Amino acid sequence: MNGIKILSPATVANFVCGFDILGFSLQFPFDEIFLYKSNDPGIRMNRIYGSKLPENPNKNVAFVALQALLNKYNNNKNKIIGFELELIKNIHPGSGIGSSAASAAGVVFGANILLGNPFNTMQLIRFAMEGERVSSGTAHADNVSPALLGGITLVRSYQPLDITKLHCPRELWVSIIHPKIEIKTSDARNILKQKILMTDAIRQLGNIGALVAGLYQENYELISRSLEDVIVEPIRAILIPAFYELKIKCKKIGALGGGISGSGPSVFMLSKGNYTAKKVTEMMNRVYDPLRIDYKTYTSPINKKGVQCIKMI
Ligand code: HSE
Repeated sequence: MNGIKILSPATVANFVCGFDILGFSLQFPFDEIFLYKSNDPGIRMNRIYGSKLPENPNKNVAFVALQALLNKYNNNKNKIIGFELELIKNIHPGSGIGSSAASAAGVVFGANILLGNPFNTMQLIRFAMEGERVSSGTAHADNVSPALLGGITLVRSYQPLDITKLHCPRELWVSIIHPKIEIKTSDARNILKQKILMTDAIRQLGNIGALVAGLYQENYELISRSLEDVIVEPIRAILIPAFYELKIKCKKIGALGGGISGSGPSVFMLSKGNYTAKKVTEMMNRVYDPLRIDYKTYTSPINKKGVQCIKMI
């Protein structure tokens, strides 16, 4: 078999209080990736549907992640191989739901299978993080980890890289709104403060610890109370139209809480159960309808598997 079809999921980074360390994977939307092994060295991007991505290969996330994997694989081998790639981008770049991570995670996951699984998941995460580096200027792992591991993940440490998968409560559902405005991750990172107050650190650490406890206990009230970010959200919220109105109105009708998805502009809210999540998504529509901003909404469970191979070609 020389080819593979991959579904690579959208992801929500930060999980409100866990900037750069927490993230989870969504069932919808996802990118479709076709990858073919070739005896010609190098990587050829044959077709990209659904989005215009950088033509310069060194700025293209999928290319850079795959190249990182190939560099390692081809090193010390007599037979140098390459790949051909087709991407169907259903996750809009710049949406804040891990579009670049889906491309990066999907290609390295597929390449690893085509090569006979020479790399473990932690190595795949590292290759995919190289894609994130070109996209946002920082090799953050909070989107690529849940994309590759599925479910909810925690980056305990970046140096050395130490990532763990957390328990996912059975009834946790996600509502997402993607306002079609552009926020570059690099810009959304540059506006953040480099130093924080001790009092804010204490509050944030309490929330992160309690959120993880709430996930394991499947304690939705504790999860709800822990969905608070006193460090990043107060700075970034100004970039997103009607952000606080969304939060207040969605919580009023039963959402557990939520916040900015990654660096925005998407906003996510969590609910217990599909029924409440759908009501919350409808509320998001109602808040955005009068604003004259194009937007898209999704309702999704948490995707416990992450990136998947759906067929060999
Ligand atoms: N943790 C990153 C950030 C995610 O918030 O900048 C970017 O998608």
